[in-house]
Formats: sequence, structure tokens, C-alpha cells
Amino acid sequence: MEAKTPFYITTPIYYPSDNLHIGHAYTTVAADCVARFKRMQGFDVFFLTGSDEHGQKIERTAREKGMEPADYIEGIVANFKKLWQTLLITNDDFIRTTEERHRQAVQKIFQQVYEKGDIYKARYEGWYCTPCEAFWTERQLVDGKCPDCDRPVELTQEESYFFAMSKYAPRLLQHIEENPDFIQPESRRNEMVNFIKSGLEDLCVSRTTFQWGIPIPAAPGHVIYVWFDALVNYLTAVGYGSDEEKFRRYWPADVHLVGKDIVRFHTVIWPTILMAAGLPLPKRVFGHGWLMLEGGKMSKSKGNVVDPMVLVERYGVDAIRYYLLKELTYGMDGTYSEDLLVARINSDLANDLGNLVSRTIGMIERYRQGRVPAAAAPTGGAAEIVHLALATKQEVERQLDRLDFSSALQAIWRLVGRANKFIDESAPWLLVKEAGRQGELDMVLCTLVEAIRAITVMCAPFMPTLPRRVQEQLAVFEDPDSLTWEEAGRWGTVPSGLQVRKGPALFPRIDTAARENLEEAAAAGEPGQQPQEAGLISIEEFTRLDLRVAEVLSAEKMKKADKLLVLRVRLGDEERTVVAGIAQHYEPEALIGKKIVVVANLKPTRLRGVESQGMLLAASDGEVLGVVVPDRDVPSGSRVK
Ligand code: ME8
Repeated sequence: MEAKTPFYITTPIYYPSDNLHIGHAYTTVAADCVARFKRMQGFDVFFLTGSDEHGQKIERTAREKGMEPADYIEGIVANFKKLWQTLLITNDDFIRTTEERHRQAVQKIFQQVYEKGDIYKARYEGWYCTPCEAFWTERQLVDGKCPDCDRPVELTQEESYFFAMSKYAPRLLQHIEENPDFIQPESRRNEMVNFIKSGLEDLCVSRTTFQWGIPIPAAPGHVIYVWFDALVNYLTAVGYGSDEEKFRRYWPADVHLVGKDIVRFHTVIWPTILMAAGLPLPKRVFGHGWLMLEGGKMSKSKGNVVDPMVLVERYGVDAIRYYLLKELTYGMDGTYSEDLLVARINSDLANDLGNLVSRTIGMIERYRQGRVPAAAAPTGGAAEIVHLALATKQEVERQLDRLDFSSALQAIWRLVGRANKFIDESAPWLLVKEAGRQGELDMVLCTLVEAIRAITVMCAPFMPTLPRRVQEQLAVFEDPDSLTWEEAGRWGTVPSGLQVRKGPALFPRIDTAARENLEEAAAAGEPGQQPQEAGLISIEEFTRLDLRVAEVLSAEKMKKADKLLVLRVRLGDEERTVVAGIAQHYEPEALIGKKIVVVANLKPTRLRGVESQGMLLAASDGEVLGVVVPDRDVPSGSRVK
């Protein structure tokens, strides 16, 4: 048997200063989706998460509550584990930085760097941000506050140990240049390159003013800086200093998945420590965007955090995982609101996927006594679906390998949409009435069952309970709990004569919440939103439009067309071409640099041979035309709603 290729993926280890919120859940769910996908592909996956238990922030929080840090964190770490179980996270290990195995690893690497001469003693005078556990120089502060989180910093003066980080700057820059995958997405790489080029200082790596940390054996009173301690968790868990074989197998990590807030620690401090210790660097650090609330950032002090436990209870684990992975587009921030969540569940899950399954099963019951018929080789629309399903599998692989969960789901949903359209096009309810077209009806039904099977396999890393739930109604899998990725690309494996069994809706529509939303909107004095009324649309229908701010990078007239301009625009990290019929109203140059609004989820279309990947919004009374622009400067890629 061929040996499996190792694949090591990590999440940040979270601070147990408080319970986790939906933002933390995003990172862990995303990492879990990759871990499941890679396992389905046959990789030997090691997936790590854990808790970052030392440092001034934890010590202070515990003392404020009148507790010892060790006692304080116990209950919170238990809650972390409960949350990961609830979200069906399949981590292979859970590391706690207070564990003995970790103390040994941290002290070993500290000692090694010290003996190499890259850790030296000096006096630290500067500023410390306790929430970020970060040191700053006077020059780095912004308006006297932490440049990362904008909170007050504390003046710190102590005798400390320093890590000679600055001397590694040229080597680090060279590494980033030679390994374009090392920091992703690209926007974060550019940010980090600029940060490093602006000059690295040596890093203070010990503290004496509190005790809640790993001691430096040779220097009583000194504890190791919490980020030095925390980052080493990625080594401890794969056996650094304790299990050489395991360490050689999994290190270097394939991906450290982190939020954008801690990319700097992972791409400047971490690689330079590894360089000093003579260890290989992780292959990739991916910094995803933040999940924001409509009123801004989630924070305990604002009292606006969203508890993922409550959401899972209310809407189910698959729906929450789907929503999180769909909402944050590649590297960009996303918005959380319960209205958006409900709208997504109702449109994508209940309407699109749920209906595809229930319509198909309903038709098999009505037209074929509940048994999947045998069918001839697919032709026409059915052949198109087979082709699209195979292309979708490849697209999902490509997108998941670049950690673009949202695009992967979009690709799957194009297939769901195509299958639903196929039902309408082929109108089985008419075919069943024509004696000569029964073979055609069999082919339609069979194709739909195969498509549902392939879609379910592809959804498995995102929504782990889906295969089992589909299986209860449509027993197409040998074992829904151990699907392989390759099965998504198989066609024609569904046994004919298979008995279907209609069950409860896979994703029940959330009616109560939708009603509440309407009531809330009405109470807020918004125009009446009763979807039943002719000509009016519901909030769910509106939120299906993905409107985004896009920056115009270039614009030119389309050759041999006097109305069309071809624009190249940027939406966050993505670039697109948009063809717009505004050439009689705008000179191309006048648009360059403008932030405009585009419909980002419009089906691409070809205009005079150029593919237009979106549509810009413009207002016009038939004579005057003005392109819609946001009232103030917002980053490209931002959502318009
Ligand atoms: O930084 N949206 O721990 P932490 C998306 N202990 N992700 C979010 C988020 C949001 N609104 N809020 C938090 C630490 N996250 C250190 C890490 S690693 C060696 C040490 C996620 O508890 C995101 O992944 O503050 C972010 O990087 C992480 O939680 C920060 O968690």
C-alpha cells in the first residue's frame, strides 16, 4: 500500500480569558473543513487546536475575578472542548500550553537559541499592549495607542532577555520572496513585506513583572514571553524534542490558519525563531478576514459577542458551518447578522439544496413507485450535468487548496442550481404522461440522483451530518461516514431499483425567525415587506444579490463598439473584468481609481467576445447617467446592502 502523505494544519490556540465567540468558531470550522477534505483525499492529516493559557492578560483577568489563573481557565478550556465537539471539529490533538510536554519543548528551544547567541540580556523600556500581548516602540504607536487594536498601552521597564530578531530580516524577506505561498492572501504578504522593510527591532522575550508563564530555568524570576511560548505549541504537539519520528513526519506544518490580527506574529516572529533554532519554516500561513457585526467589531467590552453554541442549537450544526464558510469571501471580512444567517439558510439550504432533494425523491415516489429506475447513458441536459459535476469537483479541489471556502461552495451551488433548472427544463410531470418518453424520464430521475450523490460528497467537509441525513432518504452510499473524495467524481454507481424514502426536510425553512425579522423591520419603520404582495420582494430575495464595492484599476473602450467600456476592477483580493454600457457617458480615464458598486454574483456573460464577470450599478433617467459610488472611502470588496 502506498504510504499516505502527511498534512499538518493548525488553528491559533485561543486565549481562555473568556468563552469563544462565532469569530473564533470561524477559524476552527474552516480548518476542520480542510482537514476533512484532505482526509477524504487520502492524506494522513494531523489537525491541531488548543488553548494559549499563559501571559499577563490571563493572569490579570483571573485575579480580577479573585481566582488563581490555573483555576480560572479550567472551566473555560472545558467549554472550548465542548464547543468543538458541538461543531463536529475533528482535531487530532488539543494542546494546552500549561502541559508538561509544552514546558519542556519551550524551554528546550529557548535554551537552544540562547546557546546559539541569539538571545541576550538587556534592559527593556517601551510599551506593552496586554490584550494583544505585544511589545511596541514609541515610534510604532498610533496616537499613543496600540497600532493593532487601538487600545491603551502600558509603559514597561524591566531587565529582560532579547531575541536577535532584527538580524534575520534579510533572510526572512528573501524567504518570503522565494516562497510566494508562505504568506497568503497576497494582500497580507504585501503588508508584512512593508512591515519588515520598515525595520525590525530585536524582540523582548522574557518578563519579570508577573509569574504566570514558563520560567527560564537559568534565570529565576523571568518567565518566557507569551507569544514565544504560544507559537512553540505547533512544534510541541508533533513531538518536538520528545518524538523524533512524529516530528519528522509532520513538521513543517502545511498550513497555519490564523486571523488577520495575528499574521505578524506568525510571519515575522515565528519564522525568525525557527531560523534561529535551525528548523524548517511552515509552508503556508493564511490570514483570513474578520467576521464583523453590523455595528462593527465583536468584543466582550461591547457586550455584542455571538455565542456559537446558541446558534447551533437554534439552526443546526450544518447550517452554521455552511453560513460561516460561505460568508467570508477569500481573505476578506464578512458580516454576521442573524437575519443574514436565516436568509442564507432559507435560500441556499432550504430552497436550493433541500428542494432539489425533496423534489427528486417526490418524483421517484410518484412516478416510479419509490424506486430509482435504470437508465440509458445521459444525453442532452443530463450529459451537461455529468460534465458540470466533474468540473465542479475539480473546481472545489482548486478552491479548497487555496482556502477559498466561499468560492468552493459557490461552485457546488452552481451545480445545485443547474440540477434544479434541469428539473424545470425536462418537466418530468409532462414526460410521465407520454408513453414513448418513459426512458427519458428514467434518465432524468437517475441523473438527479447521481447529481445529489456527487453534491453530497462535495458538501461533506463543510456539512458533516449531511451525508448521513441524505442517506436516510436516498441510500446511495455504502457508508456515509467514511466517504472518499474520489466518490464525488464517480458517475453511474447508484444501483437501480434503490428504494427511496421521503423523510423530513433536510433544511427546514426558518419561518418564525423570518417573521420576526419582518416584524422588526416593520417596527423600525421600514417600508412594508410582505413578500406575498405582488411586485415586492422579501429581504431574503434581496440578500441573494451580492453587491460589492470595486476599485477601477483600468478602463478602455471596447473595440468596434461605441457603447461599451471594458473595466478591470478589484474586489478585495480578487480582480475581475466588467463590461459596462456607459461609453457614451464616461471617458475611460475618468473612471480609473474610482470605487464603484458591482453585482458580484451575476452569472458571467460574453459581450463581443469579452467575458463580463459582474455588472456595475449606475443611475439614469434615460439621458443623464451616473455611476453609483459610495459616499465615503470604503475598502474594495466591502459589501453593499
Ligand atoms: O490571538 N472573526 O488568541 P485569541 C474571525 N492566543 N476570526 C476571529 C474573530 C473574528 N471576529 N475573532 C477572533 C490569540 N478570531 C493567541 C493566538 S497562536 C500561537 C496564539 C479568531 O483567543 C482568529 O483566528 O485572541 C484570530 O486570529 C484568533 O481568533 C485570535 O484568538
